[in-house]
Amino acid sequence: MSRILVTGAAGYIGSAFCKEGLERGFNIIGIDNFSNSSDQSINFLMESKQHNFTFSEVDLCKDLESLREIFVNNEINYVVHFAGFKSVIESQMHPKMYWDNNLESTKNLTRMMLEYGVKNILFSSSASVYGKNNNQPVSEACKLKPMSVYGATKEANEKFLEDLSTKGNLKTISLRYFNPVGNIQMMPVNSPRQDSKNLMDNIIDVCIGETKELNIFGDDYKTSDGTAERDFIHIQDLIDAHFESLKYFEQLNGYEVFNIGTGNSVSVKNIIKTFKEVNSIEFVVKISDRREGDVPICYADNSKAKNILKWEAKKDLREMCLDAWRPYKK
Ligand SMILES: NC(=O)c1ccc[n+]([C@@H]2O[C@H](COP(=O)([O-])OP(=O)(O)OC[C@H]3O[C@@H](n4cnc5c(N)ncnc54)[C@H](O)[C@@H]3O)[C@@H](O)[C@H]2O)c1
Repeated sequence: MSRILVTGAAGYIGSAFCKEGLERGFNIIGIDNFSNSSDQSINFLMESKQHNFTFSEVDLCKDLESLREIFVNNEINYVVHFAGFKSVIESQMHPKMYWDNNLESTKNLTRMMLEYGVKNILFSSSASVYGKNNNQPVSEACKLKPMSVYGATKEANEKFLEDLSTKGNLKTISLRYFNPVGNIQMMPVNSPRQDSKNLMDNIIDVCIGETKELNIFGDDYKTSDGTAERDFIHIQDLIDAHFESLKYFEQLNGYEVFNIGTGNSVSVKNIIKTFKEVNSIEFVVKISDRREGDVPICYADNSKAKNILKWEAKKDLREMCLDAWRPYKK
């Protein structure tokens, strides 16, 4: 069975991918530096699937020799590259930290891939590359106008990988994730740093009493109810898209990019209402000022992924909200 090197294996999406990959029979080598995660999910994966899972604590920017050792000792078929910093707000405050980490990690990884003849890389990009776009839903052909340092690092990574793939020896698939939420059943819940939390993390925080109220940033956008609209996607659907992408490497020559979203535009107020309804829970919501870097609306034209990857999201908003709260239910 194929061997996959997974970077960012301890994170929210990386650990969910590892669990699914192990269940599908892949051999998985996970690496992470725990800069935005704990060893909880890694311990869970080690305990449940010891025989085809190994893990090394490696910083992709600093531990080049440890990374080299992994490439020397393993015949790797695919690299799935989740590692990176992901907070829009934090990226505005610490741009250098974001450029260094998000670019250097990919450079070191691809250097090893080229040296050791590993061809296929699946890269975690983001809908944040689109920025403010009046043509909604956004398709892969839209002009990229990221509004944050984070989004700009994703665009730069895409461009770098595209260049290596069209003029070099790599094959790259970039997946532009929209807004993954929910949890995979049985997986331990990830605890990101405070400043890298998303809307769903903040909803959970208020429900468990970690915070007193939930902030909605802006209710005066030109959207259906004044709050920002996003394309929320269940983590399980997002993970499935990765396995369809791995199959597609066989036909791929060079570089390809896909939007991974449901194609539905959902307002912040709507997700809060749905969460409260399906989980029979109440909490205080406060309207605050708009946040710098937030766009009014962004949702996916996912027809390319449907046509080429034969992938489509299956889970609806209610399931996303139920599965997000499930691990916390008493
Ligand atoms: N979660 C989202 O909403 C979302 C949306 C779009 C794109 N993405 C992208 O998907 C990827 C995974 O996201 P996530 O939500 O799982 O984030 P996460 O922060 O939970 O996971 C990323 C992991 O990478 C690790 N990491 C960071 N820098 C590293 C380095 N230099 N060396 C080794 N490990 C390093 C972190 O410790 C963390 O465990 C990221 O690249 C993110 O930008 C996420």
